[in-house]
Amino acid sequence: MFVRSMAAVAAIASTAFAVTSISDDEMTGYLNDGAVDLAVMYAPMWFFGQAMDQPPCYPVWAFGGNVSTPDVYDSAHKTPPAAQCEYPDVGCGCRQPDVPIGNPGPEFPIYYTFFQCNSSEVRVAYNLFYQKDGAEVADLIDTGHDYDWERVIIVHTKNSANNSWAPSRALLSAHSGYHNLAWGDIQNTLTTDEVNAGDAINPNGVQNNDHPKVYVSWSKHANFDTRNTGFNDPASQSLDDAFRSQDWWHFVDAQYYIRSDNSTAAGQALGSADWGDATSNPPSVQASICTQNAPMMNATSNSNSTARYHRPSLHRHH
Ligand SMILES: *[C@@H]1O[C@H](CO)[C@@H](O)[C@H](O)[C@H]1NC(C)=O
Ligand SMILES: *[C@@H]1O[C@H](CO)[C@@H](O)[C@H](O)[C@H]1NC(C)=O
Ligand SMILES: *[C@@H]1O[C@H](CO)[C@@H](O)[C@H](O)[C@H]1NC(C)=O
Ligand SMILES: *[C@@H]1O[C@H](CO)[C@@H](O)[C@H](O)[C@H]1NC(C)=O
Ligand SMILES: *[C@@H]1O[C@H](CO)[C@@H](O)[C@H](O)[C@H]1NC(C)=O
Ligand SMILES: *[C@@H]1O[C@H](CO)[C@@H](O)[C@H](O)[C@H]1NC(C)=O
Repeated sequence: MFVRSMAAVAAIASTAFAVTSISDDEMTGYLNDGAVDLAVMYAPMWFFGQAMDQPPCYPVWAFGGNVSTPDVYDSAHKTPPAAQCEYPDVGCGCRQPDVPIGNPGPEFPIYYTFFQCNSSEVRVAYNLFYQKDGAEVADLIDTGHDYDWERVIIVHTKNSANNSWAPSRALLSAHSGYHNLAWGDIQNTLTTDEVNAGDAINPNGVQNNDHPKVYVSWSKHANFDTRNTGFNDPASQSLDDAFRSQDWWHFVDAQYYIRSDNSTAAGQALGSADWGDATSNPPSVQASICTQNAPMMNATSNSNSTARYHRPSLHRHH
């Protein structure tokens, strides 16, 4: 079920909040310093969920890194893909959260890029890497593939009246396109104080603060600003009904932001490695970051209309 209607009620009580704006000089300083501080200042709180007791793939380092050892950007260290398994085992062979549900998940890296598109627009991309996408479904649908790159792009806009900057939109990657949301329309946000206090699930339904809650779909890792636990059939996982919930959450520490444009060893390695069908690697997205806006498609390029005839009846899991 969509949670938007309940959130709308909660939002009435929260009109006093507002996203933080920064001066033009602060923005220039952030960009000159590599923009990690800018990225963290408005970073998402990421949520992950499981359906039918099947844990998801969890974001991971792309070149063998971990919480204590950085990636090594050569082909010998490229993280292996995970094989496809029969639905609903969407997480086999992947890094998984590996802590019980209802807890923060472990650290993962954000392969970030940033770009000043013009005098009034700056974009920051938060790229997450997974060892595979989706699962096999008998002979009906083959929705998955090796590796998966998904991202959130935050668009910062300068208000010419007072020369200050604030996020104006969030683009959440989904099905080869984006959910393109005005900042004030994002269903759930947190303040930096709440993030620092360790809050995640609560408060809920509060809009227009600095940190969007982003829900990663269980099977194919599309990004949403809403939860939806109403559909756990395979066809729905390629669509906007994809299952996503809040079993785990994580706010990525600044030390795990890895600059991934083509000026860095990370970006050069990420851009030249073969990720199979997961072609949206960070430097390739960066190359057209100012025009990444496209609306979400009705289905992914990896499934086809045949899949739609096989949607079983609904199984609701709340
Ligand atoms: C991180 O990777 C290094 C090098 O492969 C390994 O020695 C170390 O045990 C790993 N640490 C963790 C916490 O997994
Ligand atoms: C659509 O999917 C079905 C079932 O997997 C497959 O038999 C068919 O060839 C596909 N059609 C196209 C155009 O990809
Ligand atoms: C600039 O104006 C916008 C729109 O009125 C407002 O939201 C923002 O807080 C202002 N910023 C500053 C630093 O005054
Ligand atoms: C590196 O990225 C910049 C910005 O996207 C682009 O203009 C440039 O052509 C790229 N260079 C290479 C060698 O890909
Ligand atoms: C800045 O770039 C964005 C994205 O390309 C565009 O939508 C916007 O109109 C541009 N603004 C100006 C003032 O050129
Ligand atoms: C999605 O499907 C509907 C109905 O078939 C169509 O009108 C719409 O243009 C499609 N949207 C996209 C982004 O393809």
